[in-house]
Amino acid sequence: MHQPALLTAITAALAALPSAQAGLYTRSSPVLQVDARSYQRLVADSNYTTILEFYAPWCGHCQNLKPAFEKAAKKLDGYAKVAAIDCDEEENKQFCGGMGVQGFPTLKTVRPAKKAGGKPIIEDYNGPRTATGIVEDVLNKVNNHVTRVADKDLDSFLEGDKPKAVLFSDKGVTSALLRSIAIAYLDVINVGQIRNKETAAVEKFGITKFPTFMLIPGPGKEPVIYEGELNKKDMVEFLKQVAEPNPDPAPAKKKSKAKKKDEPKQAPPEPEEAPESSTVEETPATATPSVIPIASIMDDAMLAKECLQKSSHTCILAFVPAGETETGTKAVDSLSQLSTKYIHGKRHTFPFFALPSDIPGAGTLRTSLELKDEVEIIALNARRGWWRQYSGDLSAGSVESWIDAIRMGDGEKKKLPSGVVHEEAPEPAADEPESETVEAVHGTGTTAEEETEAPEVVVEKLEDEVNEEKHDEL
Ligand SMILES: *[C@@H]1O[C@H](CO)[C@@H](O)[C@H](O)[C@H]1NC(C)=O
Repeated sequence: MHQPALLTAITAALAALPSAQAGLYTRSSPVLQVDARSYQRLVADSNYTTILEFYAPWCGHCQNLKPAFEKAAKKLDGYAKVAAIDCDEEENKQFCGGMGVQGFPTLKTVRPAKKAGGKPIIEDYNGPRTATGIVEDVLNKVNNHVTRVADKDLDSFLEGDKPKAVLFSDKGVTSALLRSIAIAYLDVINVGQIRNKETAAVEKFGITKFPTFMLIPGPGKEPVIYEGELNKKDMVEFLKQVAEPNPDPAPAKKKSKAKKKDEPKQAPPEPEEAPESSTVEETPATATPSVIPIASIMDDAMLAKECLQKSSHTCILAFVPAGETETGTKAVDSLSQLSTKYIHGKRHTFPFFALPSDIPGAGTLRTSLELKDEVEIIALNARRGWWRQYSGDLSAGSVESWIDAIRMGDGEKKKLPSGVVHEEAPEPAADEPESETVEAVHGTGTTAEEETEAPEVVVEKLEDEVNEEKHDEL
């Protein structure tokens, strides 16, 4: 850890300079001032993205940035947080060092994990130090919890007791405004966007102009159309008729934890701790102590390695939107619960992965398998060339029955289309015995021959098909 030492050296050398200036930003500044102690609550635990400036009051570039940063703070008000920390303060030095700050000002964006309870994603901001540059970058990093609802998803979106807020729009993109509303009401009101071309939904609610913002207060309740201006403040006021937005920052003592009074009170965030370290994880971990989240496919290489190689065994993949949506989260939660259950029960199972839609290979695979829904769960065995599609609600119980069926070899198996399985040389066959395939032999009534067909043969067939396809294309 050279950085904190370096930082200390620099700041110590400069301490001799005139004036122990107060922080750069005054109390009335739109820039939120945080310190090592409040960082956790104000920034890391927020559901909003933050841009955080690490500064020292004596630094000229920091002073130059101030007007632009304050302007950005005003523009981003309600959408994201704009915060600053004075690294010259004794109590903040170690924190700033731990964040890898080596010069001033340093700007970093802190984006909440897509999945509740995950670590925030911290990235350097190296864009232009102008209000516009900052605003643009930060808006791009506002998490998207808005569900895109097509006609076919309407019923599932409308399920459940939670109020729903829907923007009918002629646009395909989800605005930062709507995303910020979904963040304010995370887990309280489900926010969706429906495009004008979804005619069934549009007709169902008699929508005639776009955009139209509509609130469905609850199951069986009459929808209420919003008549005001499309701005966050007024829209939130309108939604308050059914629920208050989540308080941000969360109140210091959470009421929801009242039930757990006997449990030792959670220690306040360690000011000395670097945010990448375990403190960030601690808060959410106490909320869901036992569920181990399933892994997310990070890129095409990982997808290939885990599931699409000739040597890959059965893999459970949940296709989920890149942004957080209700159904996506539900699928991942259900699989996480199941996976945790299998792990605790030491039962042999398949690896489960979330496959976000922004991984290019996800799109390709979707197309090849002709998957239609935004959220799809499939089982796929590249080695044996089959896949199965889950249909049903996304509850853990229902998914579990399906997985059990696969373990037993029940259910419809489809042949993987050519081109899905990658041609890389299989890894040396360190084949752990696969109990599900053995079970499958008995379950489906497929012949042992078929099931035990040497992988090489399957691979050859697939290769033939790939080649055929290539010729067709030429
Ligand atoms: C963040 O979202 C969760 C729901 O996922 C909510 O319970 C919590 O209150 C929100 N936190 C803040 C600080 O808004």
